[in-house]
Amino acid sequence: MHNAPSSMLLIIDDDIAIQTSLSLLFRREGFTVRVADGPFETRAVLDEETPELVLLDMNFSVDTSGDDGLRLLRYLRERLPTLPVILFTGWGSIDLAVQGMKAGAADFITKPWQNDHLVQSVQTALRLAQRAQPPTGTASAQRKRLDAQFRFENIVGDDPILLDVLTTIGRVAPTDAPVLITGESGTGKELIAEAVHQNSRRNRQPFVKVNLGGISSTLFESELFGHVRGAFTDAKTDRTGRFELANRGSIFLDEIGDLDPASQVKLLRVLQDRTFEPLGSSKSRTVDVRVICATNRNLEEMVAQGTFREDLFYRINLITVRLPALRERPGDIPALVNFFINNLRRLYGRPNLTVEKGALNWLKNLPLSGNIRQLKNIVERAVLLAPTDVLATSDFERHLSPSVTTDRSPSSLSSILPLDQLERQMIERAMAHHHNRIPQVARALGITRFALYRRLEKYGLNYDSLDSPD
Ligand SMILES: Nc1ncnc2c1ncn2[C@@H]1O[C@H](COP(=O)(O)OP(=O)(O)OP(=O)(O)O)[C@@H](O)[C@H]1O
Ligand SMILES: [Mg+2]
Repeated sequence: MHNAPSSMLLIIDDDIAIQTSLSLLFRREGFTVRVADGPFETRAVLDEETPELVLLDMNFSVDTSGDDGLRLLRYLRERLPTLPVILFTGWGSIDLAVQGMKAGAADFITKPWQNDHLVQSVQTALRLAQRAQPPTGTASAQRKRLDAQFRFENIVGDDPILLDVLTTIGRVAPTDAPVLITGESGTGKELIAEAVHQNSRRNRQPFVKVNLGGISSTLFESELFGHVRGAFTDAKTDRTGRFELANRGSIFLDEIGDLDPASQVKLLRVLQDRTFEPLGSSKSRTVDVRVICATNRNLEEMVAQGTFREDLFYRINLITVRLPALRERPGDIPALVNFFINNLRRLYGRPNLTVEKGALNWLKNLPLSGNIRQLKNIVERAVLLAPTDVLATSDFERHLSPSVTTDRSPSSLSSILPLDQLERQMIERAMAHHHNRIPQVARALGITRFALYRRLEKYGLNYDSLDSPD
């Protein structure tokens, strides 16, 4: 992609070789380039014109402590607060980059750099700077505008906090900026990660999910980077790692807060320079991936406690999106319930399914610590177990676990069934509803046919005569 000739890039570095190679690179990309040796020349350039972006070498003077670099960065931030600054540092001084990110730098690149990666980072920073405009209008008007512009069809809600999230996602999705999604369990982190990919220019390329919470540190490398045959005893064949599978697409690193320190370093390296070696191979490979991370942990706290690397944190959180808990947006609960009901109408072939208004209000006031996932489960359970198609409060209340109900009176507890009985009841109802058609019943219950047969045996349910009147 070429930029309008007006995009002026200022390169601050005192090394002539670096000045020259960077100038060449960015001129070829269509930028106008100016260079400065240090603070004095920088001021002179800024007095004449305003750059669109600055590339700043943190070790630009003989004094390699980086203090001059930081001082210059602070000066730039003060004089032109919206000007994106990308830092250069050596691998050995990543902590300097971290300090720079704290002082407001847009990104950092370690030397030696990959040209592609550097150009990508510059373009990302420029796009992000251009798109930062606050939304206007009422919530529903804003939602309509977002829907006209982006693909958010599975994401329900028009609470202002959610709309903020969607606005940010829409703005950053087309860039290659790494996105960190935080939020309690069940708030929709994975759904948002998918939306980032769907709305990016990579949407025809793979979206690869990796659950880092489930990966032991020994498996980590082989899982993410792959291995060659013979790399270890059980490596009978080559294996392609997740990063390579995600090439040209996006990689979703879920539960990133669960990563142990050794794996954190290995991950940092590939995120840093986009290269890695499969286990047992000495040949580096390069990948082009967009990184999306998620966690329900507080990474900032983990950084403070020393359990999460600060440099990795700044590498992944260029854009952070915090998903609100459902209790912060109870106004969205009715729309969510209706969305789930609508899906279930189709799934179970029950076009008349609806929820009474009173029940919607009652659901709005439930303390749902499991957030949207829990709400979805409650709705699904109620639909399966309710005797009619019009769901009332009692249909939801009856099957709640005690931890969910606010009312702890004996009458509400007495309606709770032991799990076994509940399961039996669900199967009986599903069988009746689907006239004993095993494949449909298994699908409706979300279990395999085999598992369904096992349960039918367990409860002694005769599936040939079940729906005959008794
Ligand atoms: N805004 C929304 N509209 C409709 N459905 C949603 C919304 N947010 C989440 N969901 C649904 O809720 C369920 C949980 O969402 P998801 O798996 O994305 O949560 P999560 O934050 O990744 O949870 P966890 O931390 O437990 O992994 C999914 O079935 C998802 O489709
Ligand atoms: Mg998840």
